[in-house]
Amino acid sequence: MAESPEFLTAQDVGSFAYLSMKDRTPQILTKAIDTLHRHKSEFFEKHGEEGVEAEKKAISLLSKLRNELQTDKAIVPLVDKCDDTDIWNQHLEYQRSLLNDSTGELRWFFSPWLFAECYMYRRIHEAMVQSPPIHDFDVFKESKDSNFFESQESIDALCLHLQQLRPVRELSEKQLKEEFLRLLQISLWGNKCDLSLSGGESSSQKTNVINSLEDLKPFILINDTEFLWALLSKCKKTAAPPVVRVDIVLDNSGFELLTDLVLADFLLSSELATEIHFHGKTIPWFVSDVTVRDFSWIVDHVKDSNQKATSACGAAWDNYVKSGRWIYHDHIFWTLPHPYCVMPQVAPDLYAELQKACLVLFKGDLNYRKLMSDRKWEFTFPFHQALSGFHPAPLCSIRTLKCELQVGLQPGQAEQLTASDPGWLTTGRYGIFQYDGPR
Ligand code: F6P
Ligand code: MG
Repeated sequence: MAESPEFLTAQDVGSFAYLSMKDRTPQILTKAIDTLHRHKSEFFEKHGEEGVEAEKKAISLLSKLRNELQTDKAIVPLVDKCDDTDIWNQHLEYQRSLLNDSTGELRWFFSPWLFAECYMYRRIHEAMVQSPPIHDFDVFKESKDSNFFESQESIDALCLHLQQLRPVRELSEKQLKEEFLRLLQISLWGNKCDLSLSGGESSSQKTNVINSLEDLKPFILINDTEFLWALLSKCKKTAAPPVVRVDIVLDNSGFELLTDLVLADFLLSSELATEIHFHGKTIPWFVSDVTVRDFSWIVDHVKDSNQKATSACGAAWDNYVKSGRWIYHDHIFWTLPHPYCVMPQVAPDLYAELQKACLVLFKGDLNYRKLMSDRKWEFTFPFHQALSGFHPAPLCSIRTLKCELQVGLQPGQAEQLTASDPGWLTTGRYGIFQYDGPR
């Protein structure tokens, strides 16, 4: 097997990783601090003086963190006592053991970018955990919720579309396939709406994405969706006992989650799948990632909509959850800095869960980085190999490109893209459906 290339780091001035750590990440911290400030009276109403003291403490910890990052200070062990604290600190030691400089100190800009960035979000969590009684406050909740409200028109259009397909079971095979491919594309473009790329600023979906799909097709650089259709059609016919499980490793809340739920509903109502397992984060993560609170919040809000089609979707989703056909899981592994190839060792229980699936969909850019171990692979390097042994079940990455990492392209494709659109790797304008499994 070929030797793995280096990890992406933020040390190359001008690289996307560098710009991300230098500008976007401090901006995210500033926004989190501002959010805490604005909720001061709420903390006071709920917890009295203790709430105000906690707000001050969280702000001072976050300001300290921002300073450490901006001045490239040493990365220090976590001091909280959460379920994952020991694993994190062991990983810090491991990263330190890889250093070949004399200081022996891990630094923000010289460590692998994936590790440093995940550590930053874990430190935000630590700052909150250390600030009871407001330790449960999600500093990103407001942005996630406004992304949902600002995308309202697109959400209603999408729910209406889904309602008009019912009863889905009565669609012809041809119509089923067309819809499947359409809803996959909607879920792909939903991934443009993450809030960490915009530094936490608004990134909602204001136009009806269904009408734009044809225009967006040329921006899909790898399209393996035919394999997904073939796989699920086959599973449906051959599954014994007749359980077809599809797992969706979620990314962002707001509009993107809505597109995933619409797809998940279609998979059940078309009988392409019999159960959907969602995987979300246990703590606030990369600004917009889904936590269990976001998941329930969105199902409730869709159900309570005053638009008939939207609320009908919400009622169906609530029913899927209650009847156990939609199952939400979270696991600390998703918010560790580890690449997915080590999942069998670090989280064997989670790996065993994924092995039960007929297909696992990985949404978003961060999941792609972790699937690829965030290494500088050649653009034409095979996807299967870059997964470095991570093959729990047939899987597909559905992601818009937001970092300088892409494998599996045709020879010359990357060069052509660079010539026609120099920002192709990082603007989220392009997307992929990249599949690994039986063909
Ligand atoms: O900043 C790092 C990064 O992984 C980017 O590559 C991307 O902008 C963002 O975080 C997360 O994107 P997504 O929500 O699609 O995982
Ligand atoms: Mg995200």
